[in-house]
Order: sequence, then structure tokens, then C-alpha cells
Amino acid sequence: MDLNLKDKVVVVTGGGRGIGEAICLAFAKEGANVVVSNRSFENAVSATDKIHALGLKATPIQTDVSRPEEARKLIGETIKEFGAIDVLVNNAGISPKNQNGEPAMTWEIGLDEWNQVMGVNLNGTLICSQEAIKYMLTRKKGAIVNVSSVAGKAPYEPMATGAHYDASKAAIINLTQRLASEVAEFGIRVNAVAPGRIATPLSKLASPKWNNAMLERTLMGRFGTPDEIASAVVFLASDGASFITGETLNVNGGWIMD
Ligand SMILES: NC(=O)c1ccc[n+]([C@@H]2O[C@H](COP(=O)([O-])OP(=O)(O)OC[C@H]3O[C@@H](n4cnc5c(N)ncnc54)[C@H](O)[C@@H]3O)[C@@H](O)[C@H]2O)c1
Repeated sequence: MDLNLKDKVVVVTGGGRGIGEAICLAFAKEGANVVVSNRSFENAVSATDKIHALGLKATPIQTDVSRPEEARKLIGETIKEFGAIDVLVNNAGISPKNQNGEPAMTWEIGLDEWNQVMGVNLNGTLICSQEAIKYMLTRKKGAIVNVSSVAGKAPYEPMATGAHYDASKAAIINLTQRLASEVAEFGIRVNAVAPGRIATPLSKLASPKWNNAMLERTLMGRFGTPDEIASAVVFLASDGASFITGETLNVNGGWIMD
């Protein structure tokens, strides 16, 4: 199967660590030109250095996707510097917890925190997608992959996440379908992945109580790795998935099945 990603310009938000870093590396290994975008520039640089150490192509850009002007600038600068954007991966996400790694109950969540989570997870995805699609429409090609979550499909399962996170990830699935339906005729595909529990710095913030509960629900009996999400994202962005759009792919080791 020819993934056809060589020399493609790929932007990954939140690419500085965890799942995003693995996604950047996986695209770079396919010969893509990867823009490693991250709120912490230090992390963007360290992920980029790891890619360069393998002799592969990557460029760090500092972006807080919850700031619309920064999100727009990310896409604009990419097009200016590399002459294109072929793939956008909306991966940046936050999941606030208390000091004990416990998610807040819905009635405890303040509107500021609610808006902060929506600002990163949902609005960031929206603004980056809007900018990328405006460009992709001029070329009649391109692919977007959004990172949702099992929490966006089954918030009633044991989750170390709050209602704001779960709602943002559900909205991403809906937005994926809406966007996919609007741009399908123009040669642009929009898909998502819904990871189960994945071992990353983010998941380590959750208390053992929640991590154990999620592990028990995962039929394969282990957490996933960032690489296992990255390979699904690369596939969905590639020509290997040329007839797939509007899909949200479960990558969860047999947790929920739909
Ligand atoms: N780890 C899991 O179990 C899991 C499960 C399902 C979904 N996800 C999703 O996968 C994605 C990556 O999660 P992770 O576990 O690698 O998290 P992580 O916290 O380890 O990494 C997230 C990265 O996003 C960056 N980031 C945060 N806010 C940002 C912003 N405003 N602008 C730009 N970058 C920002 C962080 O700096 C960090 O580099 C998230 O969308 C998360 O919701 C994770």
C-alpha cells in the first residue's frame, strides 16, 4: 500500500509530547515534512530534535491553539513557508483534574474551566480546520484527522475526565462528520480517532483509582501506546484511506465497540 505521504506538509497540533509527538515521528518516517506545533515551544523543539536525529524533516512552531489568532497564524505560516498544507492533525488537548488526579463532578466545574477546555479541544480544532480547509479548497485535496476520545462516545464508562472534556470530544466527532460532509465533493477527507487509555504524560496525571478502572474495562488488558494511535492517524491521513471520510476510528484495545 502506497501511503503517498513523502514530502507532504503535515501540521500536528500539540506535537511536543505524548501522542502528538508519536504522530509527528510517524509522519516523518513516511517522508513527510512535519510542522511540530505546540503551546510549549521547548517541547516542540525537543520533539523536532528527535526527528532530526533520525535524519528526517520537522520544524517547530509555537502555537496556543486556544488563541484564534495563533491558530490562524500556524496555518498561514505553514503555507507561506512550505508552500502548502496537505494534512492537519488536531491533536492538542487538555483534561483538567484536581491535585489528586480526580476529575471534577459536572456540578463543580466553573464556567472559566469549561471554556478553557472547549477553547483548546474544540475551538482549536475548529479554527485550525477552518484555515486549513480554506486553503485545501483551492487545491481540491487534503486530509484532516481529529483526535477525539472514548470519552466522547461513552462518558458513562469509568473516565478520569470531566464533563467539559467529554463534551468537547463528542463535539469533535460531530464536527468531523459535518466538515466531512461539506468538503467530500472537493477531494478533502475529514476523519477522527477515538483513543482508549494511552500511556502518556496526560494519563499519568489521573489517580490510580481511575487508571485501574479504565484498565479493567480494556479487553486487551493493557493501555495503548502513543505509536498505536499514531499509526491509525497516519493511515487515515494517507492515500490508504482514500475512500474513508467522516469516520471516527476506535483505537481502544477493545473497550467500547460501536
Ligand atoms: N492519553 C490518553 O489516554 C488519551 C485518550 C484519549 C484521547 N486523548 C487525546 O489525545 C491528545 C493527546 O493527548 P496526550 O495524552 O498525548 O496529552 P499530553 O498532555 O501528553 O500532550 C498534549 C500536548 O498538547 C499540548 N497542548 C496543550 N494545550 C495546548 C494548546 N492550547 N495549544 C497547543 N498545544 C497544546 C501540550 O503542550 C502537550 O504537548 C489529546 O487531544 C487528548 O485529549 C488522550
